[in-house]
Amino acid sequence: MIYLDYAATTPMSEKAINIYSQVATNYYGNSSSLHDMGLVSQTILEESRKTIADFLNGEAKGVYFTSGGSESNYFAIHSLLKGNNKKGKHIISTKLEHSSIANTLADLQNDGYEITFVPVNTEGRIDLDALAKAIRPDTVLATIHHGNSEIGTIQDLVSIGAILKKHDIIFHSDCVQTFGKIEIDVNRANLDSISVSSHKIYGPKGVGACYINPTRTWKPVIPGTTHENGFRPGTVNVPGIAAFITAAEEIFPIMNSEQKRFQGLREKLVHGLQGDSWKVSQIGPTSNRLEHIIGLSIAGIEGQYIMLECNRYGVAISTGSACSVGMQKPSKTLLAIGKSTEEAKQFIRLSLGKLTTDAEIENTINIFQSFLKKHCNDL
Ligand SMILES: Cc1ncc(COP(=O)(O)O)c(C=O)c1O
Repeated sequence: MIYLDYAATTPMSEKAINIYSQVATNYYGNSSSLHDMGLVSQTILEESRKTIADFLNGEAKGVYFTSGGSESNYFAIHSLLKGNNKKGKHIISTKLEHSSIANTLADLQNDGYEITFVPVNTEGRIDLDALAKAIRPDTVLATIHHGNSEIGTIQDLVSIGAILKKHDIIFHSDCVQTFGKIEIDVNRANLDSISVSSHKIYGPKGVGACYINPTRTWKPVIPGTTHENGFRPGTVNVPGIAAFITAAEEIFPIMNSEQKRFQGLREKLVHGLQGDSWKVSQIGPTSNRLEHIIGLSIAGIEGQYIMLECNRYGVAISTGSACSVGMQKPSKTLLAIGKSTEEAKQFIRLSLGKLTTDAEIENTINIFQSFLKKHCNDL
């Protein structure tokens, strides 16, 4: 199978698998135990914390390990709101957030929080003037993702952070799609909190991290929690974390060159998919984007049909966020950038990764060409 769904998840790297196996076999002590076996695990854990902090230009004491991006988002928002419940109950966000944020916000509305969703333009980029206007004296937190999982738009976190800082608003960003792909600097962007996930960068599933600016106060979501300084309960997954760090160490040095390589593969793919009897359009920005996330639509043909045809001929693609699979709803990103329901249903996403080759792109083009020609001839 040609796998072009790396934004949904990635295969674990060999190095990460080896490290997982070594740590799980040899250093399996509970990182909270006081004996030497526990101490070794704790040392691995603290070194891992430092490595993640370095990648983010943050401090080790701000890193909390979790089960992934979804849990990081939930715990970050709730912990920060609990620790800052005097300022007010107004939150700013966008309609483009991952379901783990959208669902958290929907639940907070039931608890009396008011949410303002700042509009985005046709490229999916947040309107900075609208953001400034949305701020109220009772705005306590803003949660705005970094990179869009469907069309690859990168938000300007530095400009957003500067606006929010002026009003001392807590700034959380879901960085699951950008960690290990482009630079994240929590200090430069005045970020108070971010979420990252291991399985998007060739680490194990079920591992992630949250960074919280150590100068911000927060309170445990689950009272009495002792692990991860009270942030998240449960015995810490040290082998998974060590494998996550290994994967991060592999990807960070090559992330810029990979984005350049993806740009070339993307151009080749989009050009090659065009045909005389159909029109392929790129959805999303033309610059400041994640080059490996390619949002497309083929006029008049449902994305679901294309995805199934691709699957039949051995190419794995997606019709949008993997978390929406099985739900035949139009992509919410497409609706937020002003597409009609019909256009949103035509959406497909191809996402490239470190194992994607020129040959795979050429084969994908040939497969698309052959089933699209057949489809158009049958009409
Ligand atoms: C933007 C974004 N946030 C959060 C998540 C959830 O991460 P995890 O699968 O680690 O819970 C995803 C996964 O698709 C995502 O794309």
